[in-house]
Amino acid sequence: MRVLVTGGAGYVGSHTVVALAEAGHTAVIADNFSNSSPAVLDRLERISGVSVECHEVELTDAEATERLFHAEPIDAVIHCAGLKAVGESVSAPREYYRNNLVSTLTVADAMEKNGVRRLVFSSSATVYGAAHSSPLGEDSWPLESSNPYGQTKVIIERMLSDIAAANPGWKVALLRYFNPVGAHASGLIGEDPRGVPNNLMPFVAQVAVGRRDRLTVHGDDYDTVDGTGERDYIHVVDLAAGHVAALDHLDSMTADVRAFNLGTGASTSVLQLLRAFERASGRTVPYVVGPRREGDLAVAYADPSRARTELGWMAARSLEEMCADTWRWQSANPSGMSSRLDS
Ligand code: UD1
Repeated sequence: MRVLVTGGAGYVGSHTVVALAEAGHTAVIADNFSNSSPAVLDRLERISGVSVECHEVELTDAEATERLFHAEPIDAVIHCAGLKAVGESVSAPREYYRNNLVSTLTVADAMEKNGVRRLVFSSSATVYGAAHSSPLGEDSWPLESSNPYGQTKVIIERMLSDIAAANPGWKVALLRYFNPVGAHASGLIGEDPRGVPNNLMPFVAQVAVGRRDRLTVHGDDYDTVDGTGERDYIHVVDLAAGHVAALDHLDSMTADVRAFNLGTGASTSVLQLLRAFERASGRTVPYVVGPRREGDLAVAYADPSRARTELGWMAARSLEEMCADTWRWQSANPSGMSSRLDS
């Protein structure tokens, strides 16, 4: 299939482009590079041996999006594009709602107009909010996130369900990511956050490489294995494979819309991850314990059984591989995507 990957230059999108190529699909990227670098395109070519077509486009712009669909024969869309910083979404909610909701509607309009009815959407485990306990199953209800970013995912899931119900032929997979970490084994692509990382793994990696002095552990008085928060970290290469499995499953899906958790089902504390990273990198990662972060949960991990039985997909990579691959990427690219010459 020819698959449009929105946000295809980003962290999850770029690894998904590699997975699509390996599975024999052709990826076409649409990205506005607001949180990614065009340098990723050359790296993708080096990994997969084929050049990847890329359109710089603002998906909130209906005419530009329509032009893209006219220019390209597209069989399916993997919609990864979106703003994703939780803290920023609290201070700039209008920007988050406008960008994430309008771009999704614009893509959906262009799809319907052009007869494209296969969609895989990047959702998040954040849709489960604080109301449900782990392991989190897809049928947990109601869905409500604690922050505007997460609410955009809740609303978009609902929007896409309504669109699929009203427009015959639509098949939509909603992929609820747990905590994506790691990098492609080549060390050529990985997570490249702008500014201070919000998430644990990139912060730990930047401390290990010497870009930051120490990690602040957000609370060690939770009711968990060692008092620090527990999460379900999933290797981004496994996550990318989950997108291809979902895409390949769409045509045989009985429901119009189906949500799938992409997680491992295992739970790892902040200090367990930190120790694993120290072992993988051979570096010490200094830390201090600070107060709890507002809105944080003690524990969140997936029940990944639906993806296993219905998509035939399960995460294969260990915490050790997640740390080793993050370190390979971070140590080769200490300042991110722009720090290494593409020789
Ligand atoms: C966060 C978001 C979630 C989003 C996800 C994207 C919040 C409340 N949730 O999830 O909506 O979908 O990122 O990947 O922000 N930690 C530290 N020190 C740090 C950073 C994190 O101790 O500097 C701890 C956190 O308290 C948590 C764990 O590490 O226990 C994981 O945090 P993080 O990587 O930010 O992911 P989530 O909070 O699960």
